[in-house]
Amino acid sequence: MLLSEVKDKKEYRGLSDDFVARVVAPYTAQYNIYSEKEKKKLLKEVRGQLRSLYGAFLVPGYDRRKKYLASMNAWNDIEKCERILSLHVSSKERLPFYPKIYKKLQGMVHYTTVLDLAGGMNVFSLPWMGHVHYYGIELNKDDVDFCNAYMEKFKLTGGVRWGDLLSFDTFVKTDVCFLFKILEGLEAVERGSTERLLKKLQSPYIVASFATRSLGGGKVISARRLKWFEQLVPVHEKFTLGTEVYYVFKREDVK
Ligand SMILES: C[S@@+](CC[C@H](N)C(=O)[O-])C[C@H]1O[C@@H](n2cnc3c(N)ncnc32)[C@H](O)[C@@H]1O
Repeated sequence: MLLSEVKDKKEYRGLSDDFVARVVAPYTAQYNIYSEKEKKKLLKEVRGQLRSLYGAFLVPGYDRRKKYLASMNAWNDIEKCERILSLHVSSKERLPFYPKIYKKLQGMVHYTTVLDLAGGMNVFSLPWMGHVHYYGIELNKDDVDFCNAYMEKFKLTGGVRWGDLLSFDTFVKTDVCFLFKILEGLEAVERGSTERLLKKLQSPYIVASFATRSLGGGKVISARRLKWFEQLVPVHEKFTLGTEVYYVFKREDVK
């Protein structure tokens, strides 16, 4: 089956089937999968797209995270959390700014429950986020298992669910929902997905972030590209820290 052929590489094995199927769908209209030559092209393009949505974030030596977790003695062991966060490109770039980001957010929103969508390794920023009830959804099974192993080890409340967040119809209600560096990826898979997702969220406050530089802190990317988002939501606060711009807004339709 096409899906299993796409996933037949170590780095894609842990991705949810729903998500891979969603990415594959437009390519099946473009290529004849019964022609070996065309199927090869399809596999190459689909894997390229998957790499940009997921694989590109992994830092070499990713497996070391297990060793760091095993040696942690407390949930807020900052040194080990920093090491783990630095094995995912997104959180690595944010590392020097975590204390400031959460301080700023805590000044704007009183939160004790957090929903972190497509959170990657962000649960390891709990030492700065605060001792909250943390719920997450993430596409990669290995990441989900790893984050839950940390939460279980220190009896932290909440948990991370495995799945394609575009396939969920309902979400847990929390004080705030984080959408860090994910919305543009979702739009690339399905245009209009941000709007549909926001309608399903039950958290009164949303914090969404976008990169200001290309992956790994490279070229500056135009802020004008985010006009679509600024027109979609009632922006309450906007601030930039490091290579990321954050938008905070309150949903008037959710109490
Ligand atoms: C750019 S990283 C951001 C990670 C995290 N939000 C952060 O900023 O530290 C994108 C993350 O989204 C996850 N992801 C991408 N598409 C997803 C989807 N449809 N459902 C759930 N997770 C997804 C990827 O596996 C990856 O961990």
